[in-house]
Amino acid sequence: MIDIENLHVRFDSEKGVVHAVRGVTISVAPGEFYTLLGPSGCGKTTTLRCLAGLETPSDGSISIGDVVVHDTARNISIPTYRRDIGMVFQSYAIWPHLTVFENVAFPLREMKPDVKEAEIKRRVENALELVQLSGYETRPAPFLSGGQQQRLALARAIVREATVVLFDEPLSNLDAKLRAETRLELRRLVKRLGMTALYVTHDQTEALTMADRVAVMCDGEIAQEATPTEIYKRPVSRFVASFIGQCNFAEGDVLSTPSAGTPGQINTEWGPLSYNDGPDHNVGDKVTIAVRPENVWLAQKGSDDAATQITGKVSEIIFLGEALECRVDLGSSNVITRLHPSSEVAVGDTVGVIVKPQDVAILAA
Ligand SMILES: Nc1ncnc2c1ncn2[C@@H]1O[C@H](COP(=O)(O)OP(=O)(O)O)[C@@H](O)[C@H]1O
Ligand SMILES: [Mg+2]
Repeated sequence: MIDIENLHVRFDSEKGVVHAVRGVTISVAPGEFYTLLGPSGCGKTTTLRCLAGLETPSDGSISIGDVVVHDTARNISIPTYRRDIGMVFQSYAIWPHLTVFENVAFPLREMKPDVKEAEIKRRVENALELVQLSGYETRPAPFLSGGQQQRLALARAIVREATVVLFDEPLSNLDAKLRAETRLELRRLVKRLGMTALYVTHDQTEALTMADRVAVMCDGEIAQEATPTEIYKRPVSRFVASFIGQCNFAEGDVLSTPSAGTPGQINTEWGPLSYNDGPDHNVGDKVTIAVRPENVWLAQKGSDDAATQITGKVSEIIFLGEALECRVDLGSSNVITRLHPSSEVAVGDTVGVIVKPQDVAILAA
């Protein structure tokens, strides 16, 4: 539904040329909720603006549905208003002097050929109902709450009944609680309408909870593209692993590789660990492994697991409410573990550290 091929964007600025997008290739399937995730300045908004026709790529091609909307090589560029898209921005860009009804009607009044008044009324009322703002038609837009304004922006994006909707950090102006509620509501609505969504955010929780697929961006490039589960469990690099949640890293040497159901072995700076899968490696290779804190288990010294454990000493415990975060010193290195808050553990305890083979991710680079 959305195909971006080798997209490059260069800006001329007083500091020289900024190469903001560097060869981005994305293919979003019809009905898919696809998220671009990355830190500020990595090129997310620029990519989205190219799709909308608000920015001119330096190179590459973009198709929406069957229509090539941009192709630098073939000198094709279709203007914004002829692209089959709706958009929701970070600043909702709500017209303060217009009512709720007129805010939503606005994109329809801009359309050519003219949309008839009865049709405008039908579509606006339909859109307002979908975002649960029926009954607010005559209210001036500034008199809505933050969450309602966000839904109004959404109604305006869907009123064109476009097949593709673009979101640029649409929830970042909401407070934390409302943001959490709106995430799933928004995803459900997009799914119910059968729209294809390209959603930009710097918030990892948003990306993980909302997206069918995530592309993590770094410095204008896609660092990894996968499902949220895959990205979380099998990050390819330190950047991806630490951008999406907390992670422990350790260097190690491959002692044996996995084969026929037998785990491989790595001698890590924490101690020996087994692993199940990962990029191809040979015995003797130096690798970096990544393990999530919730996958580090502690056993009291002398328990049955003793033989398979790495021994360490608890050096710090932080109470987080829903969890305890413990730092365990392992000689020259240390590891962070996340435990249930009822865990009986104290600073100074000698503990066994257990990491299961399926929870060891080997980084590609
Ligand atoms: N109009 C512009 N002129 C010069 N540099 C720009 C312009 N727009 C964006 N940039 C630069 O391009 C890079 C990517 O910006 P942007 O796409 O807005 O990132 P993000 O949305 O991921 O935060 C940044 O370094 C930004 O400063
Ligand atoms: Mg941005």
